[in-house]
Amino acid sequence: MDRNLALNLARVTEAAALSSGKLLGRGDKNAADQAAVDSMRRMFDTLDIDGTVVIGEGEIDEAPMLYIGEQIGKRREDSLKVDIAVDPLDGTVSVAKGLPNAISVVAIAPKGTLLNAPDVYMKKIAVGPKAKGAIDINKSTKENIENVANALGKNVSDVTVTLLDRPRHDILVQEIRDTGARIKMITDGDVLAAISTCFDYTDVDILMGIGGAPEGVLAAAALKCLDADFQGLLAPKGEKQEKRCEEMNVDIDKVYKINDLVMGKEVVFSATGVSHGELLDGVKYHQKDRASTHTLVLRSETGTLRFIQAEHQLDKKPKYAK
Ligand code: FBP
Repeated sequence: MDRNLALNLARVTEAAALSSGKLLGRGDKNAADQAAVDSMRRMFDTLDIDGTVVIGEGEIDEAPMLYIGEQIGKRREDSLKVDIAVDPLDGTVSVAKGLPNAISVVAIAPKGTLLNAPDVYMKKIAVGPKAKGAIDINKSTKENIENVANALGKNVSDVTVTLLDRPRHDILVQEIRDTGARIKMITDGDVLAAISTCFDYTDVDILMGIGGAPEGVLAAAALKCLDADFQGLLAPKGEKQEKRCEEMNVDIDKVYKINDLVMGKEVVFSATGVSHGELLDGVKYHQKDRASTHTLVLRSETGTLRFIQAEHQLDKKPKYAK
């Protein structure tokens, strides 16, 4: 894939972040999400790709833009044919409440290589590159934590596990505490939490627990670029989610590894912080209509990792940032 595509993706997530960041703390998660969707969709029109949304905002009847199956990009005859996974705003509630770690996120890979995951729950485990190969989602919490501790050369009591703060994780929390490991709860946003395992300064070693399957594909895209590890087991909740898995022909007994979620060698990824966070700063608005963004851009082919700090003159690009 064209190496500049990764940089152009930064423009896509920046645009979404600039728009939704305006709504920080306003108590309206739908408005924050809509602002991100609108700006992201508009920016996609500027990319020379022939893209199909495989992870998106929902089915065509639920989402007028960035719906699953929507074809986007300039779509010229010689445009690159790609699969697109988007979450214009991962952490809608976080933006509504002014809480940390909301991001706008996109991954692109050659056509037919991203898993078209249903919008159901997924049990996940993720680690950074130093613990690659040390996880097995079918093993116990204790075994996984011990194996990761060994791989990292740490005492189990110094391993930090991050997970979503949800009642469904009560047993998992107890299992982690029983090992003596540390816990860092997050209110939302398990894509960023999975990526955090790759950066020592976040002090996060393992992501565990159940979150969204679409977010699992996005996390796997980033972790593939970072040569890290991820496994997921679909965990449909209730009849509706089970039916969705059947319709989409996915296997609820299969352990989805990185290469099952992102099937080719190539994938590019971009995430821009919307609200403040450890890994990515949130959008900051300055005097004279300026704003700054912080973006992580990844490319699997070369393993290049870029943090892009950008300053935007909003009055010069009102289309994308209002
Ligand atoms: P949204 O912002 O799209 O609502 O997703 C936030 C999120 O925390 C994801 O990062 C996570 O995978 C999922 O929700 C978990 O679902 P739930 O909130 O139902 O536990």
